[in-house]
Amino acid sequence: MDIDIFTLFPAWFDWFFAQRHVRRALTLGHRIEAIDLRATTPLRAGQVDDTPYGGGAGMVIRVDVVAAALEARYATDALAVREQRRVIALAPSGRQFDDALAEELAREPGLTLLCGRYEGFDERVHSHLASDVVSIGPYVLSGGELPAMVVVDAVLRKLPGVLGDPASAIEESFSRALGGAPEYPHYTRPAAWRGVRVPDVLLSGDHGRIREWRRAQSRERARIRAEEGGD
Ligand code: ADE
Repeated sequence: MDIDIFTLFPAWFDWFFAQRHVRRALTLGHRIEAIDLRATTPLRAGQVDDTPYGGGAGMVIRVDVVAAALEARYATDALAVREQRRVIALAPSGRQFDDALAEELAREPGLTLLCGRYEGFDERVHSHLASDVVSIGPYVLSGGELPAMVVVDAVLRKLPGVLGDPASAIEESFSRALGGAPEYPHYTRPAAWRGVRVPDVLLSGDHGRIREWRRAQSRERARIRAEEGGD
């Protein structure tokens, strides 16, 4: 997979790219890069944003700046990039990111992520340059950089060989293997800690019963989440 992240703060990704699973993805032949949106701006003095039409607080990232960055990268008309690869603008107003979308994105050969800042992007970035607008949750962060890391992290975990143990990615929270439910609880040694014991079934060695218990726990967590208004 080929991942490009357009951002005004490429240095934010230095730490992320140095993490073990990201480096493993690179050694497997995947490619990931943070690209400075300011480097290709057609405006003077590195300008990338402007005041909003209609007034209001904050600055808005200009569509011509994003278009220029895409054209410099892909040597094609900016409007055509989303026909070649998924172009994901990160914004709190977008579609909520979830495990199903991570699965879907993991099947793409190429991803482009656009990180907003300030008041975000001019709406024409969403409507004419992006294929998707994605939010990682109903809260506002200071930019799209952390959301981009969340999306890339969740997607990389789905790629074969990126995790040390491939089984880890299959039966995890919200996966299809668990019917979209949260994952069951995990325990390790010691079997008793301050009088709190690990459930007997996990020590029983009976894999059928263990599987049944885990599925039941997972369903119970889904029920509690729904009751709490999580769904
Ligand atoms: N940019 C700022 N907040 C965001 C969020 N919650 N999701 C995606 N992008 C964002």
